[in-house]
Amino acid sequence: MQVIASIFDMQSTAEDLRSKDRLIGLVPTMGALHEGHLSLIRLAKERADTVIVSIFVNPTQFGANEDFASYHRDLPRDVELCEKAGADLVFAPTAEEIYPKGYSTYVTEESISKTLCGISRPSHFRGVTTIVAKLFNIIRPDLAVFGQKDAQQGAVIKKMVNDLHFCVDIVVAPTVREPDGLAMSSRNRNLTATQRTEALAIFQALHKAKEMVDGGVYNADRLIAEATHHMGERRRVRVIYTSIVDRGTMEAVREVLPGKAMMAIAAWVDEVRLIDNILL
Ligand code: PAF
Repeated sequence: MQVIASIFDMQSTAEDLRSKDRLIGLVPTMGALHEGHLSLIRLAKERADTVIVSIFVNPTQFGANEDFASYHRDLPRDVELCEKAGADLVFAPTAEEIYPKGYSTYVTEESISKTLCGISRPSHFRGVTTIVAKLFNIIRPDLAVFGQKDAQQGAVIKKMVNDLHFCVDIVVAPTVREPDGLAMSSRNRNLTATQRTEALAIFQALHKAKEMVDGGVYNADRLIAEATHHMGERRRVRVIYTSIVDRGTMEAVREVLPGKAMMAIAAWVDEVRLIDNILL
């Protein structure tokens, strides 16, 4: 498996692939790969000739008191997993090359990124759009695959692609869950067994909301109250938000229009911040 660290090498390799008419699929990641990421790689492989996985723990998307320093890093393990999942190449640049001294240019989406996680993590999406725009410029992929678990991220990136005329198809792949329903996340590895049990309340709350909608309850306040109450029964779970939003704009809705809305939750399980969502 080829691992490229330099931007110049990545640009020329991608250029070479394009000259051979290879369709390039990109899976942007921060490493600490799990089955959810591997499903994105497999999906990219179905749709593209060459799959590039970027592995970069992007400092600009972490707030000052967040887990950037402790974020799990294991490049050899991640490269091996990428290869097994069918990726062709890993791009793992250094922070010094991506953000050299004096770096001062950022990409900001100013609407979708303001709600949900944008409230408690005000600079997060600016970091995401900046790094993703850079990856799109360096690699110029034909398509890029993101996970539905980060639904707001997917919506922000789609908006950026549309607003800035990037020539890339954004593919959003379904959330991969543990057998009991917990959404796969790189941060799950930070949960103790007790926290892991309590974290399940997030999925259960979403699942309950979906059942209620399927049973004809469309009032957002009622659904949110039920979900919040369920999580409130867990001592270690502190809800950051439970919202019902339009899937495209991420703006809160009062009534669920089935097929158009989703419930999104962010919660602390002690010191581990988790997010999840369900389409309603
Ligand atoms: O979803 C992630 O892992 C990150 O936000 C991304 C898209 C790789 C940008 O750093």
